[in-house]
Amino acid sequence: MKKKVLLMGKSNAGKTSMRSIIFANYVARDTMRLGATIDVEHSHVKFLGNLVLNIWDCGGQDTFMENYLQSQRDHIFRNVEVLIYLFDIESREYVKDLQYYKSIVEALKEHSENAQIFCLIHKMDLVAEEQREIVFAQKEAELKKASQPFNIRCYKTSIWDETLYAAWSAIVNALIPNVNTLARHLEHFASVCDADEVVLFERATFLVIASATIKQQQDVHRFEKISNIIKQFKLSSSKLQGAQFASLEVRNNSFAAFMEAFTSNTYIMIVSSDVSIQSASIHMNVSVARQHFE
Ligand code: GTP
Repeated sequence: MKKKVLLMGKSNAGKTSMRSIIFANYVARDTMRLGATIDVEHSHVKFLGNLVLNIWDCGGQDTFMENYLQSQRDHIFRNVEVLIYLFDIESREYVKDLQYYKSIVEALKEHSENAQIFCLIHKMDLVAEEQREIVFAQKEAELKKASQPFNIRCYKTSIWDETLYAAWSAIVNALIPNVNTLARHLEHFASVCDADEVVLFERATFLVIASATIKQQQDVHRFEKISNIIKQFKLSSSKLQGAQFASLEVRNNSFAAFMEAFTSNTYIMIVSSDVSIQSASIHMNVSVARQHFE
């Protein structure tokens, strides 16, 4: 099952940086040496067994943008499942950028009227922390207006923190079929394990695929923080000896968390506030459930 994903935005907005961090194991500082993308770079990412993300990273220099909208219009905008449009918050050409965006929405309306649109307000690390919500809310309102009739979703992102994972987890969730069924099965598994929460991560990217929360948790950003931390850990441990971690366990006096390689495409995390819970019982439950989820 192949899904076409367009990654667009002005030159230097950060498209290739994002793609390289999520799908090609770059760390943020590696992106400083990326050159400009010439025309369109295609990549096929195998995601969860039979799902393939066909990512079109569209170089954002003006001549390329104009070609996409004119001579290549049909080729670029046909059969699109998701458009991801990046706005560089630092750009001094926001008005021009918005004009391009509106033309792209028009092209999408003509060729892929059922596409989903995600707008990422990017490089948010360059905005003072106390200003971020205000700046974001203003851009979001403007973009929603400019995107009619599409019902878009906006995220604030930076390659320097976990916001990148929150946005991309939402994007891949929009592409995975039967994600609700998966969540239901996970909920059942969570109650069998007597867990507070169970989360499923894709094995290579560490994006969140599904979760089940039995006991409400306070930190709404916990999933993306964990994605970010574990991905960094995974990258540094594989650099050391080419090793893939099989499982890890974290305990303190208020919770116990277990993360384990699960199916061929996923890792699972189980969190419990019962600190007396035995690791062996969790491992056994995971082993028994593995085949069912595979
Ligand atoms: P084209 O290929 O020309 O369309 O550009 P692009 O959108 O692919 O930009 P690219 O990913 O090459 O990134 C341009 C520069 O922005 C690089 O130096 C990145 O390190 C930097 N960059 C990307 N994301 C961020 C971010 O979140 N914050 C900051 N501060 N810099 C970023």
